[in-house]
Amino acid sequence: MSTTSGIDSGAPASSPKKRLTVPTLRARKGGEPLVMLTAYSARMAQLLDPHCDMLLVGDSLAQVIYGLPSTVPVTLEMMAAHGAAVVRGSTQALVAIDMPFGSYEASPAQAFDSAARLMKETGAAAVKLEGGEAMAPTVRFLTERGIPVIGHIGLTPQAVNLLGGYGARGRSEAEAAKIVADGVAIAEAGAFAIVIEGVVEPIAIEVTRRVACPTIGIGASSQCDGQVLVGEDMLGLFDRTARFVKRYEDLSGRISAAAEGYAAEVRSRAFPDAGHLYRPKA
Ligand code: KIV
Repeated sequence: MSTTSGIDSGAPASSPKKRLTVPTLRARKGGEPLVMLTAYSARMAQLLDPHCDMLLVGDSLAQVIYGLPSTVPVTLEMMAAHGAAVVRGSTQALVAIDMPFGSYEASPAQAFDSAARLMKETGAAAVKLEGGEAMAPTVRFLTERGIPVIGHIGLTPQAVNLLGGYGARGRSEAEAAKIVADGVAIAEAGAFAIVIEGVVEPIAIEVTRRVACPTIGIGASSQCDGQVLVGEDMLGLFDRTARFVKRYEDLSGRISAAAEGYAAEVRSRAFPDAGHLYRPKA
């Protein structure tokens, strides 16, 4: 069954396992690497949950789900709907949810209102926000009020219009020093983890060495305290991806082949066959 009942419906099966918590994950600094993947739907959350420490409801759903050109148009409503689905579909991973562009930058109070809404409406245990030193007061404000925050530094996709693209960051000495300072500021403000995206490797190693919380790399370094990838990228759903994506499957090929097979059987009337039809009672 796919959409209407049972294990695949998105309702989590009752599990004896307790969800991982912020203190437990924070304590993994320097230990076994943290495993994080993005998820946007209940079913994908169900499949990824047993293998992950954290599921991230990323605002990358802009491109992956909605075919938008960037994460800039994403709204709180979109994040809340997908966040609730991912929480419903998972039982053991900590679910963190991205704060969308425009929902937190104006002031710490705006950030609190948006984060509290996301947590209330989804059940997610943490939020992630992009930015370095300038966002440190906001990270502190949220953390001191009971909202666990994951920082996101380096390549920050919500700033694509300022950055001019999605190229790796930190190629100049000044930019590298700024990214390290960003990481240190966010960590000192209370972030319990920091995503480091798309930076030249020595920067990720330096931030990881300098901060007390775990770093989670994406296009960063294997020496980070964990790794994250977009689930659909890792599954091979897209033909063009960033250099840092490793494909562990070829879902786009498999889906095309399955759709081709289905189309051929429909056109030849081979489907539906007797095994997929209801017969009157004898
Ligand atoms: O939105 C997202 O998917 C992310 C990850 C790439 C870290 O922020």
